Amino acid sequence: MAVIAFFELEGWEKAHIRNRLLGHDVVFINGVLDDKNIAEAARAEVLGIFIYSKLGPKQLGQMQHLKMISTFSTGFDHIDMAACNSRNILVSNVPAYGSQTVAEHTVALMLALAKKIVLSAERTKQGNFSIEGLRTIDLYDRTLGLIGFGKIGSHVAKTAKALGMHVRIYDPYADPNLVELLNCKLVGLDELLAHSDIISLHTPLTPQTKYVINAESIAKMKKGVLIVNTARGGLVDNKALVDAVLSGHVGGAALDVLEEEKAIKEERQLVSPEFSGAFDLRTVVANQILFNKPNVIITPHNAFNSQEALKRILDTSLDNIEAYLRGKPVNLVNNKEAKGEGKMAEKEKPSKKTARKGPKPAAKKAKAPAKKKAAKKPAKKAKPAKKKAAKKSKKKK
Ligand SMILES: NC(=O)c1ccc[n+]([C@@H]2O[C@H](COP(=O)([O-])OP(=O)(O)OC[C@H]3O[C@@H](n4cnc5c(N)ncnc54)[C@H](O)[C@@H]3O)[C@@H](O)[C@H]2O)c1
Repeated sequence: MAVIAFFELEGWEKAHIRNRLLGHDVVFINGVLDDKNIAEAARAEVLGIFIYSKLGPKQLGQMQHLKMISTFSTGFDHIDMAACNSRNILVSNVPAYGSQTVAEHTVALMLALAKKIVLSAERTKQGNFSIEGLRTIDLYDRTLGLIGFGKIGSHVAKTAKALGMHVRIYDPYADPNLVELLNCKLVGLDELLAHSDIISLHTPLTPQTKYVINAESIAKMKKGVLIVNTARGGLVDNKALVDAVLSGHVGGAALDVLEEEKAIKEERQLVSPEFSGAFDLRTVVANQILFNKPNVIITPHNAFNSQEALKRILDTSLDNIEAYLRGKPVNLVNNKEAKGEGKMAEKEKPSKKTARKGPKPAAKKAKAPAKKKAAKKPAKKAKPAKKKAAKKSKKKK
């Protein structure tokens, strides 16, 4: 019997989790993992968390029995991987739960920006039917630049093509066949920045992608460019974005993710005497300025939050835990070299059947760097303490 602790649940999941993990000591702890409630998880061998629970050396140090973390998310930058590796703690994520879900939100933000939907709706709610200042742009025939062409980026591309847009892609590991199939164009980053009317971000947050949108890259963009970010806040230097929005160089931005987004939920804490300085206040202030601009739309990291996606996230997270308990962990993220980072799950790719094959690009196809090889075999699998006690899971619906 393993002790399995869950944080950040809403409630509707609990009965389902208990049924799937029968025979184990399942502990539900309210809220985000923090200094106050971490002791309740001290016995846990397995941890189920969402992105607002930060796990660094300090927190891991307080969970001496921990062997496996199942994060209920695709991104895992809330978990200190080096600290996990040094303790041989396995981390599994949810590699795919509906890339279309996030892609739909991305396209909704693109349309909302281009068509000034939020501003128009707010105005009419106040009984004002004036269309002054509400002139919009068409997406048809415009160029969309996608930084990152994995599961989500490729679904965005497919929808953008259906809207009649031209799609340029910067992704050193993009699948060139899929790029061609969707009638998009692989380009270098500078070319993408210079030619796109809308730029949308779909990479993970890594040292290479951190602040990919900064003062220098914004200077290379077209005046009036629209920027959409549904990936991670750290991809955009918000201080640079504020300057560009205020100067008009950036015509609008739609952000589902923000650096220091947690601070927005905890504003009262920022002015309390106990404020620990955990947030970068310049970034928090930059976020506040963006909030107040009519040409900036901010959604609260909600792109994943569809009914269908949540059920898939829960089931995959529980599959990950059960696989670990059987001694055959899956969806590991802390042996990335072995798994081939950025590789697209087959079932998540837009299928050849559904992807409308457009005419082949007349120009010579942009040369894509060879896809990274998955070099080694997966590292030795860590065994759970008492895997035999793991009961067979109930069949999924
Ligand atoms: N807002 C939300 O609710 C939400 C939900 C799910 C995922 N996300 C974010 O979206 C991101 C993308 O998700 P995905 O499922 O498409 O991931 P993915 O792994 O399928 O695709 C990421 C792509 O980024 C590319 N990439 C990596 N480094 C790059 C670089 N330096 N420059 C350009 N491209 C690079 C990879 O080659 C890959 O094709 C996730 O990492 C996560 O942070 C956000």
